[in-house]
Amino acid sequence: MNPSHSVIFNIKPGGKLQGSLRVPGDKSISHRSIMFGSLAEGITQVTGFLEGDDALATLNAFRQMGVRIEGPDNGRVTIHGVGMQGLKAPKEPLDVGNSGTSMRLLCGLLAGQGFEVTLVGDRSLSGRPMRRVTTPLEKMGANIEATDAGTAPLVIHPVDHLQGIDYPMPVASAQVKSCLLLAGLYAQGKTSTTEPAPTRDHTERMMSGFGYDIQREGAKATLSGGGHFTACNLDIPADISSTAFFLVGATIAEGSDLMLEHVGINPTRIGVINILREMGADIEVLNERDAGGEPVADLHVRSSKLKGINIPEDQVPLAIDEFPAIFIAAACAEGETILTGAEELRVKESDRIQVMADGLIALGIDAQPTPDGMIIKGGEIQGGTVGSHGDHRIAMSFAIAALRASGEITITDCANVNTSFPGFVSLAAKAGLNISSAS
Ligand code: S3P
Repeated sequence: MNPSHSVIFNIKPGGKLQGSLRVPGDKSISHRSIMFGSLAEGITQVTGFLEGDDALATLNAFRQMGVRIEGPDNGRVTIHGVGMQGLKAPKEPLDVGNSGTSMRLLCGLLAGQGFEVTLVGDRSLSGRPMRRVTTPLEKMGANIEATDAGTAPLVIHPVDHLQGIDYPMPVASAQVKSCLLLAGLYAQGKTSTTEPAPTRDHTERMMSGFGYDIQREGAKATLSGGGHFTACNLDIPADISSTAFFLVGATIAEGSDLMLEHVGINPTRIGVINILREMGADIEVLNERDAGGEPVADLHVRSSKLKGINIPEDQVPLAIDEFPAIFIAAACAEGETILTGAEELRVKESDRIQVMADGLIALGIDAQPTPDGMIIKGGEIQGGTVGSHGDHRIAMSFAIAALRASGEITITDCANVNTSFPGFVSLAAKAGLNISSAS
C-alpha cells in the first residue's frame, strides 16, 4: 500500500485556537541553505532548518554528491562546503520524493557539472511539468532528457559548457528563476531572468548573503558565472506557508487568540496576510526584525468575521502556496470570493483547484472551479470525508476547516503532511484543534 494512503486525520468539530507557537522552518529557505552551504567555501551553520521530507530530500541529495552534512538535530545543520567545483557524481539516481523545489532547482544547479546525474520523484512529482526548466536550460546549452510528456525522470548529461542567457520568464515561478540563476553560476557570461510578476526572492537574497554578486533591477535578476560562495550562518524563520493554516484557523474559530512566533514575512510571501486582512481578518504584525537577510515578525491573530472578496491578481504569486487555506477562509466568509489568474494551482502537488473544490463540495459548500481559479460562496461547513490526494496543504486546510464544521471531518492520504510540516497534528492539537491521526 502506498504509505501516503495509510494516514488518516479525524477532526472533531468546533474548538478555538489559543496560546503561542512557532511552526517549523521555512521550506524554501531550508532547501536553499543546503544548496548554497554545500557549494560554499567553509562551514555553514544553519538553525531553524525544516526537518520535513522535502528539505531532507535536498539534504540527502547533497550527501549523495559527497558533501559532509551534520544533523539535522533540532533544526541545527552543519554543512562542510565543498566549493563550486567540489560536488561528486552520485552512485545512484537522486530521489527527491514529492519535492518540486528540489527537482527544479537541482536541475539548474546540476546542468553545468562535469558528471551525469538522474533526478527521480514520486508519482505526483513525476506528473508535474519540467519543460519550464528544461527548455531554457537547453537554450543555455544543457543536455537534459525527460519523458515525452516533459516530466521526470530527468537525466542530466554533462556538456562542454553552458552559455548565459537573458530569459523573459513565461510563468511567474521562483523555481524557474532560481533554476536558471543556479545554472548561471556555471555558465559563461551573464545570466538574466525577468519575471512577469514578483515571486519569492530567497535565492537572490541568499546569494548576496553568501557573498555572490547578483544585481536586481525591478523584475530582472542578473549574475555572471565563475564566482564563489563564502560560508555564513543562517537562522531560518518559521514558514509563513505553514503559519497560514493557523492564521485561517484562528480567524474562523470564534474566541481564538493566537501568537505565531518568528514568522518569515518576506514581502514576496505575505499575500496570505494581505488577502485575509482584506477579507476582514484581525492580524497584527509585531516585533518586525531581520534574521540573516530575511524579515521576520510575530503575528497576533484573533477571530473575526470575514467577507467575500475578489482576490487581487497581483497577490496570487505572493500567496501561491496558501490558496488551499484561503479557500477555507472563503468558505466561512459572508458572500462570494472569486479567485482568478491562478492556473498555476492546477500543477502543484495536486490540482489544487479541482481537489479543493471537490472537498469543499463534499462538505456542503458551494464551490465552482474555473480554469484559473474558483468561485466560493460562504456557507455552513458540514462534516464528511475528504480526499487530500496526498497533497500536504490540502490535508492541513481541511483539518482547520473542522473548527467551523457542524460534524466530524475525516481526511485521507495524509502522510505527505510530513513533507512540509512534521509535527502538525501535535502542534495543532496543542493550540486547540480536536485532531487525531491514525494509520
Ligand atoms: C517555491 C516556489 C513556488 C512554490 C513552492 C516553493 C520555491 O513554486 O509553490 O512551494 O521554493 O522556489 P513555483 O515557482 O512553481 O511557483
